[in-house]
Amino acid sequence: MCGIVGYVGERQACPVIIKGLHRLEYRGYDSAGVAIVHPDGVIDIHKCKGKVSGLEAFLAGKDSSGTIGIGHTRWATHGEPNDINAHPHFSRSGEIALIHNGIIENFRVLRDALRTNGFTFRSSTDSEVLVNLIEYVRESGKCSLEEAVRVALKQVVGAYAIAIVEKGNTSRIIAARKSSPMAIGIGDGEYFLSSDAASIIDYTQDFVYLKDNEVAVIEKGKPLHIMNLDGKDSKVAVQKLKMSISQLEKGGFDHFMLKEIYEQPETLEDCVRGRVIPDSKEIVLSGVLNNKEKFLKARRIIFVACGTSWHASLIGEHLIENMCRIPVEVEYASEFRYRNPILYPDDIVIAVSQSGETADTLAAVDLARKAGAFIYGICNVVGSSIPRATDSGTYIHVGPEIGVASTKAFTGQVTVMTMLALLVGRLRGTIEEGYYHRVAQAILELPATIREALNTAEPVSALARTFTYAHNFIYLGRGYNYPTALEGALKLKEISYIHAEGLPAAEMKHGPIALIDSEMPTVAIATLDKTYEKTLSNIEEIKARGGKIIAIVSKGDDLVRRSADYCIEVPSTVECLMPLVSVIPLQLLAYYIATYKGRNVDQPRNLAKSVTVE
Ligand code: AGP
Ligand code: GLU
Repeated sequence: MCGIVGYVGERQACPVIIKGLHRLEYRGYDSAGVAIVHPDGVIDIHKCKGKVSGLEAFLAGKDSSGTIGIGHTRWATHGEPNDINAHPHFSRSGEIALIHNGIIENFRVLRDALRTNGFTFRSSTDSEVLVNLIEYVRESGKCSLEEAVRVALKQVVGAYAIAIVEKGNTSRIIAARKSSPMAIGIGDGEYFLSSDAASIIDYTQDFVYLKDNEVAVIEKGKPLHIMNLDGKDSKVAVQKLKMSISQLEKGGFDHFMLKEIYEQPETLEDCVRGRVIPDSKEIVLSGVLNNKEKFLKARRIIFVACGTSWHASLIGEHLIENMCRIPVEVEYASEFRYRNPILYPDDIVIAVSQSGETADTLAAVDLARKAGAFIYGICNVVGSSIPRATDSGTYIHVGPEIGVASTKAFTGQVTVMTMLALLVGRLRGTIEEGYYHRVAQAILELPATIREALNTAEPVSALARTFTYAHNFIYLGRGYNYPTALEGALKLKEISYIHAEGLPAAEMKHGPIALIDSEMPTVAIATLDKTYEKTLSNIEEIKARGGKIIAIVSKGDDLVRRSADYCIEVPSTVECLMPLVSVIPLQLLAYYIATYKGRNVDQPRNLAKSVTVE
C-alpha cells in the first residue's frame, strides 16, 4: 500500500533510494527501510519504525555503499508498526531480501505450510511469508530466482508490488506486481524502480509500467526483460511522463494541502484547456466522442468510487440526470464489488479515482468488465491502473496531488463531469441550447471564479480559531451542494480528527436536529439556488434550538446574515458549478482548524494517500 523505490546502475544506490522515499512520504506510512547489496555481494538491511529522516539518522556512520538497492515505506497491514515488521525482509537463509506493498490474503495457509517444512518467522508480516515461499520454491525446485518468483506468485492470493535483491548479485533486481502499482524508470545504463513514477522523476522521464501478473528482471547493462507468471515474454512499452519537479514541492506554502487548495484556479484551467472551445463553446472530450454510440444508447450510468471521488460522483449524478436524462446510480466501489449487481451491456460504468490505484475501485472495474459493461475512467494519475483497465476516459489533469486530503482532484473531477454531461446532453438533444452555452461559458470563467472564492481564506482562518475546540460539526447542503456538505465534513474529519457529519439540510428534522445545542456548530451551504428559501428555513430551525451557524452565502446576501452567526460570501456562478465554489471555504476551514490544532495536515494519522488494499 505504501512505497517502493529501487536502483541499479553506477551511482550509489542509497541516496537515490532515500530521496525517492522522501518523495513518497506524503502517502502516509509508519516505518522505512533499505536493503543495499555491497560491492562484495553482502546484503545489509537497515530499517526502523518511524520516518524516513529517522532511517537516514539510523544509517549515519553505517556502511551503505553499493550501486544496487531497494527501499520501502510501510503502511502496516499485518503486524504492528515496529522495527522487526518494517521492510525489507530477509528469507530464512539471508540469501534473498524483499520489499512488498499490498496484502497476501492467503498468508496463513502459506505460512503454515512453510512451518511444516521447518521455516520460522521473525516478523508478523505477510511479506516475510512471501520471501520464504520464494526461497522454499527455489530450494525445493532447484530453479533460478526468477523462476522461483513466478512459481511462488502463482500460489499467492492478494495484491502485491514486490522488489527483490539477492546475495552475491550486484546487478539485478527482480520486481513483480498484481493490483498494486510498479513503474520501472529507464536511465542511461541504469534502472530505477518505484511504486509511483513521480518519485523518481528527478532521474528519468521514461517509464515502463508493469501490468498485473508480470515479473521484471531488471539487470544493469542488459535490456529490461518482462514476462508473465508462465515465463512468456511481455512487450516492453516505454512511456514518457511529463512532470516537473516543482510540481512535487511545496512552493513556499506550509503544506501541500494549502498549495493544492490555492492551485485550483490553474489546475482547473489545465483541466478545461482544449476541451471547451472559447468561441464556439464546443466541448471536445475525445473519450466520449470516440464512443458516441455508447453514450447515445446508454440505458444507465453507474458511478463507482470511494471517498472524495464518491462525493464528486454524487454531483455527477445530478449533472447527468439533469442534462442527459439518463438514470444514474452512484455506488461505493467497496460495496459494489461484493454485491451481485445487475449490469447490462448498454450500461456505462464510470470509475472515478484521483490516484487510479484504489483497490476497491479497480475491483469494481473488473466486475463491470466481466459483466460486459462499457467502462469509462475519470482519473488524475496518468498511466495508473484504473485508466489502463477502462475502455475509455478523461484525465482530470490537475497535476500530482500530494496532500492526503483530496482538494484539487475533487474540483477537477466535478469539472470533467460537467463537461461530460454537457457534451452528452447535447449529443442526445436533452439540453437547451441557451443553458448549454451558459454553463460552457461559466466553465471557461471557473479559474477567475475560484480565484475570487479563495479570498475567503482570511475570514475563514479567523473563524476557524473560534471553532478549533469544537468536538462535533454538522454540514448541511441541498441539491448540488448536498455532496459538497459531505465533502466538507470529510475534509474536517480527515485532517483535524473532529467528528463531522454531512447531511441534506431537510433531513435534520427527521432525527439529527436532536443533536443541536450550543456545542454543536453547523456549517450550512446557503447560496442562491432553487432551494435557497428552504435552506433558510432549515437554518432558522437550528437557530431556534440554540445552534451556532456558519453559513456559506452568495455575495451580497443579507437574509441569511440575520440568522447565521458567521457568513462567508462566495462568488456566484451557474447552479451546477456552485459545488466548486462552495467547497473552497470548506477546504480552507478544515485546513485552518487542523493547523490550529497542530495536526499533521498532509499526512493525517491512520490514512494513506492511495488505498491499494481492501
Ligand atoms: C480524500 O480526501 C480521501 N483521502 C479519500 O477519501 C480518497 O478520496 C479515496 O480514498 C479515493 O481515492 P482515489 O480518488 O484515489 O480513488
Ligand atoms: N502487508 C505488508 C505489511 O504489513 C505490506 C504493507 C504495505 O503495503 O506497506 O508489512
